[in-house]
Amino acid sequence: MLRKFLSSNWAKVAVFVLSLGPLLFLVWRAVQADLTPNPVEFLQHQTGDWALRFLVFTLCITPFRKISELPELIRFRRMLGLFTFFYVCLHFLTYLGPDQNFEVAGMWKDVAKRRYITVGFAAFVLLIPLAVTSTAAWIRRLGGKRWQALHRAVYACAVLSVVHLAARTSPATPRTPLSVGPPGNRSSRGRREHRFREQCAHGEPEEYESPSGRRS
Ligand code: HEM
Repeated sequence: MLRKFLSSNWAKVAVFVLSLGPLLFLVWRAVQADLTPNPVEFLQHQTGDWALRFLVFTLCITPFRKISELPELIRFRRMLGLFTFFYVCLHFLTYLGPDQNFEVAGMWKDVAKRRYITVGFAAFVLLIPLAVTSTAAWIRRLGGKRWQALHRAVYACAVLSVVHLAARTSPATPRTPLSVGPPGNRSSRGRREHRFREQCAHGEPEEYESPSGRRS
């Protein structure tokens, strides 16, 4: 029964719709004007968290299909990988737009100067050829072995993403890959936002400063 479902086109549609969930959730929050007192930082963090989660889901497919003896799961790996790239692109845009005003020269300076941006950018660049060559036509063109060798770069990307997450963290707000955790997990940042909101509701808020130095 489960096998039959996993082999059907409906399963692909279900995974696709579920994967769009985080985006729809953010659009819904935007429509409700509920993107926290610092919308840019909120979007940056949400898209970053989801990019990392999708990367983990993608990497889990191979071991999980072996453990569960469900080879059909491989059908979803490419889609999850492409959703990783999609959320990384959104994450990058929240940086390039509001942080850098789409100025590429300023972005390069920042990439060179801030370690966690350098590492995040390297992870992003590594993902580009993987996304481009994810099609069956590219597997044929490169040949199975070369394609596999290229796609091993996803492990380097995972390591760089974790370093990016760890390096951006200030000592006062320690965050590890595990603290990204499942959606809804209230992080130290979430608590700061919550406190800021409460202060807004009850009078004068303290100045709110994001770990990246942005103030609001
Ligand atoms: C594979 C690539 C990437 C992944 C998986 C990733 C993931 C993450 C995660 C999980 C966070 C922390 C979110 C949170 O605290 O809830 C984050 C923060 C951030 N990332 Fe990325 N990121 C990637 C690439 C990039 C790139 C290319 C840039 C910009 C060039 C970037 C800029 C930022 C910034 C500015 C923050 C927020 C820092 C802060 O306010 O503390 N990231 N990223």
